[in-house]
Amino acid sequence: MQIIIQDTAHEIIETCARSIARLLTEKPACVLGLATGSSPILLYQRLIQMDLDWHLVTTFNLDEYVGLSPDHPQSYHHFMQENLFRHINIKPENINIPNGLTQNILQTCADYEQKIRDVGGIDLQLLGIGTNGHIGFNEPSSSLASRTRIKTLMPQTRQDNARFFNNEADIPHHVITMGIGTIMEARHNLLLALGETKAKAVALAVEGAMTANHPASILQMHPNATFFLDTPAAAQLKNTAYYKWTYANKPDDLLIAAKQQ
Ligand code: F6R
Repeated sequence: MQIIIQDTAHEIIETCARSIARLLTEKPACVLGLATGSSPILLYQRLIQMDLDWHLVTTFNLDEYVGLSPDHPQSYHHFMQENLFRHINIKPENINIPNGLTQNILQTCADYEQKIRDVGGIDLQLLGIGTNGHIGFNEPSSSLASRTRIKTLMPQTRQDNARFFNNEADIPHHVITMGIGTIMEARHNLLLALGETKAKAVALAVEGAMTANHPASILQMHPNATFFLDTPAAAQLKNTAYYKWTYANKPDDLLIAAKQQ
């Protein structure tokens, strides 16, 4: 794993945005996995500012609430339109987000997996992390080999997401989410965590035991996973000095390019 820690959210978002921009420049027809939530909002704003060419890019979002229509203000379809897609030149037919209104969840999930395979897999998957360690909406106890499927949100996750809804009763209980096995097949996993509320979840993911009770810890098994952390999100890591020295001295093309731009 690569652990990149920078003082402010602004700095780490800039570094993260440059990694994504570099992929779009080097591989214009790349396949990106995207996330929603608070963490990527500023990242998407920065990518929009960079004025990149998205016309050959294909995207797959991690998840969608079951029962919300694409134009529902709290749906992830709506989130993505507002925060990224309507500001860039991506082709609508290249955007993939699970259909939360499907009448056949099993088929929808199987089709989503097939479509990812058909385009040759995901080059770069953007992830956030839940306070309980979830990635996508793979809640603790999710199979580490799981594929795209329906999941039931934990009370903690519904509570964490309550800020986006007017009434708690409106927060869906179910989501369609890419599985952990699906996420692990992405060629690069890039996890962005900001703020002290993520500190414990990040520390367990990076330095804790690998366990289905903390799904992000599976990234320890991924050959190319990068954690982008601001200082508050890194606050409970023990080996911070080592990670910082490694990043500052790494003869790694990707990181050097990101730093030089
Ligand atoms: C969103 C997703 C979730 C979030 C996570 C963190 O598509 O899959 O795993 O990334 O819940 O959300 P924020 O960034 O709102 O703290």
